[in-house]
Amino acid sequence: MNANELRQKYIDFFVKHAHARIEGKSLIPENDPTVLFTTAGMHPLVPYLLGAEHPAGKRLVDVQKCIRTGDIESVGDFSHLTFFEMLGNWSLGDYFKEDAIKMSYEFLTSPEWLGIPHEKLGVTVFAGEKGEGGAPDIPRDDESAAVWSSLGFSKERIAYRPREDNWWGPAGTTGPCGPDSEMYIDMGKEPCSPACEPGCGCGKWLEIWNDVFMQYNKDADGNYIPLARKCVDTGMGVERTVTILTGKKSVYDTEIFQPIIKAIVAACVPPPECSGGVCAMPYRYGMGETQPEYAERDRSVRIIADHVRSAVFIVGDPKAVTPSNVGAGYVLRRLIRRAIRHGRKLAGGSGTEGLFLSKIACVVIENFREAYPELEQNRAFILEELTKEEERFLETLHKGEKEFEKLLPNLLRDPKKVMSGRLAFKLYDTYGFPIELTAELAAENGLTVNREEFEEAFKKHQETSRAGGEQIFKAGLADHSEISTKYHTATHLLQAALKQVLGSHVAQKGSNITHERMRFDFSHPAPMTADEIKRVEDIVNEQIKRDLPVTMEVMELEAAKAGGATALFGEKYEARVKVYTIGAFSKEVCGGPHVEHTGTLGHFKIQKEQSSSSGVRRIRAILE
Ligand code: SER
Repeated sequence: MNANELRQKYIDFFVKHAHARIEGKSLIPENDPTVLFTTAGMHPLVPYLLGAEHPAGKRLVDVQKCIRTGDIESVGDFSHLTFFEMLGNWSLGDYFKEDAIKMSYEFLTSPEWLGIPHEKLGVTVFAGEKGEGGAPDIPRDDESAAVWSSLGFSKERIAYRPREDNWWGPAGTTGPCGPDSEMYIDMGKEPCSPACEPGCGCGKWLEIWNDVFMQYNKDADGNYIPLARKCVDTGMGVERTVTILTGKKSVYDTEIFQPIIKAIVAACVPPPECSGGVCAMPYRYGMGETQPEYAERDRSVRIIADHVRSAVFIVGDPKAVTPSNVGAGYVLRRLIRRAIRHGRKLAGGSGTEGLFLSKIACVVIENFREAYPELEQNRAFILEELTKEEERFLETLHKGEKEFEKLLPNLLRDPKKVMSGRLAFKLYDTYGFPIELTAELAAENGLTVNREEFEEAFKKHQETSRAGGEQIFKAGLADHSEISTKYHTATHLLQAALKQVLGSHVAQKGSNITHERMRFDFSHPAPMTADEIKRVEDIVNEQIKRDLPVTMEVMELEAAKAGGATALFGEKYEARVKVYTIGAFSKEVCGGPHVEHTGTLGHFKIQKEQSSSSGVRRIRAILE
């Protein structure tokens, strides 16, 4: 079974069980200042998990593309990935534990569906905990254990695990959360100890699916408020499940990655050396398993495969991100540059024959275009952006090399022939010149680099930048606090006002809200004049003063568009959507949430109007 078949089976199974198929959403979260990327299927569905009505109903099924960069450094082993696809079925106040578990079990084991033998499965459930510091006790999840037991799981196959393993959410500081029950495959290895059980990280058990039972909303004071409407959020990893179903040991051995890997080897690894008409055996991916001298090559190949796949999906997203030095653009830049470095490493340091990223990207697009048509639609843009970044990085490397040459005469004067770690770090910090390359150049000139000192400087630097970076990863979902909601409604007013003042060509190109401000990107060919800015402000403030009611209606997407509702171009919508109307002033397709009356917004003020990219302007505004 390949990934296309698995996705289809999953959808078919849950549609058969009365779920409505909804579209997966963008990799770039809308109006969520606390995350750079969509990291789980639940992200786009948070408002519904918290109680909002979903236009498609109470039972949903989807495939969501996700990016998790938390352990980007581990990518290169057999299982870690930065991009992955998550299959999910959702109950919004409909079924709960029993039906969720029974459906998961049927899908996994029934010969009509995945047909995984019962004996290969093990499960975990939440062990319960004593609340600390006034937090409530949360009971052990005996209910889920009883359902698994009724399905024939012996005691040894049901493990009780603590919060670190069997609790999901909130993805941010506040939001929906609850205990989960995870499904594992026995990989056939010997148990690592008598205590080895499902959920053990030794490699015997591989998690493929997680049923989360959303039953609390964690509030800003750390209280767990029981949800009036309990929900189920499940997530099955496509790559891991295909690995299991095809009897492979690693995600990289599946058809999801093999065509990409072949292209990497062809583009980056030079042909074997020959002498006297006899040539060494050509390198193939996977030789490292039996010949340790190739293990490093295999690792580089995996890193390139993962990183280029992620980069293609990020740049090819309807809300495309391009390489930059901040936020999501910076993560993308790191992925691309790391792939290039490993490409050069494979080529033996001398560089590959010309640029190679776009060759690999073409194969990624080919492999995923059926499931993700946006990649085909954005093909030219993806290839152009990747190539531009590759050229830029090669220039950086070139500059670093020149800088090294300048330093060389001095370095050679050192009697110990050691280049200080501080200097190596400076090359890295100022020119982005990687330490591996500094070490190589040094070695060519009979020098060594004080790596310890470099690592020290590097760690210090990482700690500072991580403190910022991790906050944003860990913080996860935004809480839908009052102020975010107000900014969200103000965004609708702003868009309608811009159309009135500048013309109907104005279309939303991006939107971002924090607790302090809103940002809105829109298409318009020229800077706004002071008079235009003033008129837009006045119009928005007038609508606030009029205290217009904000109402919501669910309708067919086509009817919404026909009725004049603004919708994002290029965004995937369900057949039935929510439409928010503000008096007779604005009408937009939107997931919400919004305030009930505009009068609560306060005073709207535009702080800045500037260029965002070619043909796109950016407004930064506040509510005072
Ligand atoms: N939110 C859960 C996860 O990401 C289940 O979908 O694992």
